[in-house]
Amino acid sequence: TASWGHRRRRRFVERHLAADHRARLELGAAGLQTLNTAVGQVAGAIDASVGAVKALASAGALALVAVIVQPLAALGLAVAGVLLHAGLRPLTGRSRALAAAQADTGLTYAHEIDELARLGRELAVFGSGRAFARRLDATSARFARLQRRARALSQSIAPLYQATTIAFATGVLVAVVAWGGTDAAQVGASAVLLLRGLAYGQQFQTAIHRLRETEPFADQVAELEGRLTPARVVFGDADCGPIESLTVENLAFHHPGAARPVTVDRLRCRRGEVVAVTGPSGEGKTTLAELLVRLRLPDRGEIRVNGLPHFAVHPDHWTRRVAFVPQNPPLVTGTLADNVDLWRGLPRATLVEAVARAGLADEVDELEAGLDTRVGPGGRNLSGGQLQRLALARALAGGPDLLVLDEPTSALDAASEERVRATLTACRASMIVIVITHRASTLAVADRHLVLRRGRLSETTTHDLVG
Ligand SMILES: Nc1ncnc2c1ncn2[C@@H]1O[C@H](COP(=O)(O)OP(=O)(O)OP(=O)(O)O)[C@@H](O)[C@H]1O
Ligand SMILES: [Mg+2]
Repeated sequence: TASWGHRRRRRFVERHLAADHRARLELGAAGLQTLNTAVGQVAGAIDASVGAVKALASAGALALVAVIVQPLAALGLAVAGVLLHAGLRPLTGRSRALAAAQADTGLTYAHEIDELARLGRELAVFGSGRAFARRLDATSARFARLQRRARALSQSIAPLYQATTIAFATGVLVAVVAWGGTDAAQVGASAVLLLRGLAYGQQFQTAIHRLRETEPFADQVAELEGRLTPARVVFGDADCGPIESLTVENLAFHHPGAARPVTVDRLRCRRGEVVAVTGPSGEGKTTLAELLVRLRLPDRGEIRVNGLPHFAVHPDHWTRRVAFVPQNPPLVTGTLADNVDLWRGLPRATLVEAVARAGLADEVDELEAGLDTRVGPGGRNLSGGQLQRLALARALAGGPDLLVLDEPTSALDAASEERVRATLTACRASMIVIVITHRASTLAVADRHLVLRRGRLSETTTHDLVG
C-alpha cells in the first residue's frame, strides 16, 4: 500500500509535467498540495482495508466452527452481523458526507494558505492582514467543525455496536439455554464463539467505516488529476538541426474568457538577428513569447523552424535549442549554480561561463560562497536586476539557437543593462534573439524593431517607438 501511494504520486507528477500550461496554472500549488494529501488519505485507508479483509476471514472461520459446535449460536452470529451492518449504514453514509465536505473545505483552505504565502507583502503594506486572517479563520473553523462532527460520529459507532452486540449475544445465549442446551460446556462454547465473532465484526465494521469516509478523498484525487488535461498535441520526433530561421504565419491564440484572441500576422527572423518586439500593454507580446517557446500551442496558424512545423520537432531537441527568459523568473531552493543549471546536469564550467555572459560574475565573485551561495526560499534573496540576469544565465547555459526574452531589462540599472546589451550583441552571431522590451536602450541593440498592434507585427524605427 505504501507503493500504491508512491505510484499514484509518480502518476500525478507525470501528468503535471505533460499537462497543458493553462491547466497547470489553474491547479496551482494549492491544488497539487491537496492532491498529495488526498493520496496520503487513500493510501492509509487501503492499509485499513487489509485489516477489514483479515477480520472478515477470521469471522468466517469462526462461523464455520460455530456451525459445527452449536448451530443456533452460528445462526445468531450471522443474523447479528447482517443486521448490525445494515443498521449502521445510515451513520456510515453521514460520515461519508462529512468527509466530502472536509475534502472541499481542505482545498479551499489550501488555496487561501497559498494566497497568504504569495501576498504576505501586500497584506502588510495595504493593512489588509486582519481582514484576510478573518477569512482564513472562518475556513479553518468550518474545517474544525466538520472534523469534530465526523469524530463524534465515528466514536459513537463503537459503543453503539457494543451495546447492540451484547444484547444480541444475551438473546442468543438465552435461546441456546431454552432449546435444550442446559449443558454448561455448550453454553460456554456458544458464549465464546459469539463474543469473539462479534469482536471481529466490529473490526470489520470500523474498517468499512474508514473506507467509506475515504471515498470522497479518492474522488478528490480523481477530480484534481482530471484537471491536469494533457497538452493537445503529441510532438513529432524530428530534429530540426541548428535553428537558422523562424517564421510565424497567421497565429491565433484565444485565452479562455478573453474578449478576443491574441493574433500575430507574420514574423520572419534569421540566425544573426536580434529582433525587438514592442507594443501597447495587453496586445499579446507575452502570449507570443509563450507560443514561440511552445509553452502554449496556437489555435490557428503556424510556427516553423528551418521550414519545419515546430510541432514536428521532438521535445528533447526543442528544449535543447530554445530558451526563454520570462517576465517574472522564479528561484528554486538551492545554490546559485543550481538555479542556473535547473536540473539539466550541465558542467560547472558551462554554468560559470553563463553567469559571466549574463553580466553577473562580479556580484557572484563578491559572495563568500560564490556560485554555491544558497538562494531562494530559505536562502538569500536577489535584487530584481540580479534575478533577471540569473534568468538570462539560465537561458544561455543550455547554448540555445533561439532565445526569447520577455522584458529582460525592466528591473536593470544602466550599468547592468549595458552588460545585458553587450551579451545580446555577443549572442547575435550564434542565435536568433527575440526580445520583448519597452526600454529604448535595449531596443538600440536590435537589428529590427517590430510593433505588435491589433494583431499586426510591423517594422518600425526606434524613433517612432520612443517618440
Ligand atoms: N491566462 C490568461 N487568461 C485569460 N486571458 C489572458 C491570460 N493571459 C493573458 N490574457 C489576456 O491576453 C491578452 C494579451 O496578454 P499578454 O500578457 O500577452 O499581453 P502583453 O502584450 O504581454 O502585455 P504587457 O505589455 O502588459 O506585458 C491580454 O488582453 C490579457 O488580458
Ligand atoms: Mg507581457
